Amino acid sequence: MKQDLIAILDLGSEENSRVARKVRELGVYSEIYAHDLPREELLQPNLKGIIVNGGSNNVVDGKAIEAPDYVYSAGVPVFVIDHTTPHQEMNLKKLPCEDDALLAALRPFLFDVCKAQPNWNMKNFVEDQVELLRRQIGDKKVLLALSGGVDSSVVAALLIRAVGKQLTCVHVNHGLMRKGESEQVIEVFRNQMGAELIYVDAVDRFLDKLAGVADPEQKRKIIGAEFIRVFEEQARGLSGIEFLGQGTIYPDIAESGTKTSKVVKSHHNVGGLPEDLNFKLVEPLKYLFKDEVRACGLELGLPESMVYRQPFPGPGLGVRCLGAITRDRLAAVREADAILREEFENFGLSKSVWQYFTIIPDLKSVGVRDNARVMGWPVILRAVNTVDAMTATIEHLPWELLETVTNRILAEVPGVNRVLYELSPKPPATIEWE
Ligand code: XMP
Repeated sequence: MKQDLIAILDLGSEENSRVARKVRELGVYSEIYAHDLPREELLQPNLKGIIVNGGSNNVVDGKAIEAPDYVYSAGVPVFVIDHTTPHQEMNLKKLPCEDDALLAALRPFLFDVCKAQPNWNMKNFVEDQVELLRRQIGDKKVLLALSGGVDSSVVAALLIRAVGKQLTCVHVNHGLMRKGESEQVIEVFRNQMGAELIYVDAVDRFLDKLAGVADPEQKRKIIGAEFIRVFEEQARGLSGIEFLGQGTIYPDIAESGTKTSKVVKSHHNVGGLPEDLNFKLVEPLKYLFKDEVRACGLELGLPESMVYRQPFPGPGLGVRCLGAITRDRLAAVREADAILREEFENFGLSKSVWQYFTIIPDLKSVGVRDNARVMGWPVILRAVNTVDAMTATIEHLPWELLETVTNRILAEVPGVNRVLYELSPKPPATIEWE
């Protein structure tokens, strides 16, 4: 491995992720480990220091948890935060709330005490991963569901770099993608990177299944189940696949609950794929935070528009075309979304707002066109900022942007006669409408 390692021992602090991030910001690779990790697994050759981070959830089954004794005799410096030990080492009573203060406390430990090298960067990460992936995969084949989202795209780029044609990507177009998305996946991965890419046009299949279904949960279930079915059919049609690539990232693991931390979000994976497909998982991004995943994508040559893509729900435009999906309303919400995205770009706001999109309800109101009374749909604009998607605030958009978008949608999107801007925060509203 090219990088020095600082291990963070999880003794129940809810701030382990923040500490890991800050260590990495200082240029040193850092990972969180369970407090009862076997000695050999912790004491890797590149280990330069250990942070023992105590905290509020320090009691499990009525017993306070301690770091194992070998930690203090491992021969590397130990930094103890918010935890009492009988040993002599660097000690900090409380984890600083301010990021600057935390960095100031970590810096001398990393560089003066541990003598760690600030050699954590994406170039080294990519080189290390390519080597690891080649070792893991050998001459076997890997399959990857490539949605075109940030995580699956970066996994694809990394696997292409590591094993080239041994990777087969499957892109399922379920008809609920945004404008230009499937085309971009084909252009970038097949045409520019030379990947083996199977493009599955499943538009009719999904839309037929969804016809007449108005209940949001039912819609989501149909989309999820159909996706697995389509992907499975593709997988069964290919021979000799041993591995399945996955875009799992560090927050999925760090937040899915170690013994000491509360479950924030359960670890997502394809789960629903039948057992007899029997793939081994390849998860090369599982130690990266989201911003690091983006940096990795850029390092691998992916376009910015892909790497900085906004979060997009798995059921896609299906949850933004409210009620029973019809092709005309779906086309309208897709076109309106493309206009909104284009104008965010023009106004220089595309990277500063977390999520911005359009919604089309299943209702019509009276309008007038060419002196005649014409019923039309409204389009709702939504733009929110959030840190963790659990709560969200609405964005104060420039009036000129709202006017430009409104005028363009009314002029360019057939069937739409009103544009509204939503002002509801989360809670009580959710970010998506369904
Ligand atoms: P809500 O609507 O629950 O959304 O406030 C919070 C965030 O999650 C996204 N979202 C999804 N992402 N699959 C996903 O991968 C889904 O089914 C899904 N539903 C909502 C939503 O866009 C927002 O960023």
